[in-house]
Amino acid sequence: MRFSRRAKTLAAVAAAVAVFAPIAWLWQASLLPESYSVAHTDGHADAGSDDDIPVDKLTVPDFEAADVRVELTAERQRFTLATGREVDGYTLNGASPGPEIRAEQGQLVEVVLVNSDIAEGITLHWHGVDVPGAMDGAAGVTQDAVAPGETFTYRFFADQAGTFWYHSHQVSHEQVLGGLLGPLVVVPAGGSGADADALALVHVYDGRRTVNGRDGQDAAAASPGDTVRVRVVNTDFGVMPVWVDGAPFRVAAVDGTDLEGPDEIAGTAVEVAAGGRVDLVFTMPASGGVRVNLSASAALVVGDGPAEPSEQPEDVLDLLHYGSKADIGFDPDAADRVFEYGIDRRPGFLDGKPGFWWTVNGELVPDVPVFTVAYGEVVVMRVANDSGEAHPMHLHGHHAVVLSRNGIEATGSPWWVDSLEVRDGETYEIAFVADNPGLWMDHCHNLPHAAEGLVAHVAYEGVAAPFLIGGPAGNHPE
Ligand code: C2O
Ligand code: CU
Repeated sequence: MRFSRRAKTLAAVAAAVAVFAPIAWLWQASLLPESYSVAHTDGHADAGSDDDIPVDKLTVPDFEAADVRVELTAERQRFTLATGREVDGYTLNGASPGPEIRAEQGQLVEVVLVNSDIAEGITLHWHGVDVPGAMDGAAGVTQDAVAPGETFTYRFFADQAGTFWYHSHQVSHEQVLGGLLGPLVVVPAGGSGADADALALVHVYDGRRTVNGRDGQDAAAASPGDTVRVRVVNTDFGVMPVWVDGAPFRVAAVDGTDLEGPDEIAGTAVEVAAGGRVDLVFTMPASGGVRVNLSASAALVVGDGPAEPSEQPEDVLDLLHYGSKADIGFDPDAADRVFEYGIDRRPGFLDGKPGFWWTVNGELVPDVPVFTVAYGEVVVMRVANDSGEAHPMHLHGHHAVVLSRNGIEATGSPWWVDSLEVRDGETYEIAFVADNPGLWMDHCHNLPHAAEGLVAHVAYEGVAAPFLIGGPAGNHPE
């Protein structure tokens, strides 16, 4: 009797061990080290070779004087939107969105970021601007998070004219959601050529969509016959359909790069990926106004535009075949590197937490790939999404050109992206030139997905990684 009870107990323990030991092992194996370097997948910061340049040395020389200088002070607070609603979040110089930074192409921009009181630290990332390696604002990758009472100075040349934005890249799924962001517009020297140049930065605060920080809609002025350029910035976590009532329009630019020969369209929606931008250009009609619908729940109303949105058009613009073909400046068929960025999902443990996590090439963070490149190489990347959901993929520090989708070749204008919507079941082939040394995040801009593991890195040979995820600064870029 005693024996048999004991035997039963042992059998039960053995069974429990058989079931739980592998789980315990998986759990244990998933625990992230206290700190680790993104440049190395074994969890150890590696000094690399002595000749390596630390990423924080990749700067604009100090002797260059800034043309545009802005100081931004970040605070965690309850604040009031222009339309009166109170929101809990983050401000820059007392407001969210932060001030529009406007520069002329070629100017040196200098931004001094001050963290007033944000306990977990902050950074600023210049989304879509191919800044020098040290200026990318990715906490734990290119710098330490800026602690309360501290400052960090960003300096970069605004080499590319276009529409961009900036946002924190520390605990970004919370800080971006809470409004630690703002617009950055770079106009060609001598202006954008438009008579009216309007911004439409869209952000959801506490579940409600805003345009330039106003609930529902914002207004812009233009006169009949004016050429109007509307710069749409999608700071949200999901794709946003945009359509125009009152005038035919052209998509003049995507992600800060002008398109070649964009045709006039009407009755067609343009989809803007999370983090992405489009510049729309139209001529103000002789009478009435124009309404740029930013999904059905928001709009920029230009002049005397309609007060209500039209039905969202069923036709969606396919940028794969829009505009006219032109030289991209390099030959992707002669690629030096071809990478797979396979996105999927599986149950497992991420830092000890059980869940249904995103994987890159089958691996969970921190075992995700490092795509190593050498300066000057031509890189082709195949982004394949079999994960059951869409992912707006964002590569830092570079613009990539779309070569094909599901094997169908791009035939339109060169379509340069920094934020590309990749739907479930889709495979995009993109290419870029590795011309900007550094350590660059390449992640999903549905930022909660990034926090759930959808992140990888492009690392240059010869660039050392002195910063750590975690560590004393508590760096958590996602
Ligand atoms: Cu807009 Cu890695 O971010
Ligand atoms: Cu995603």
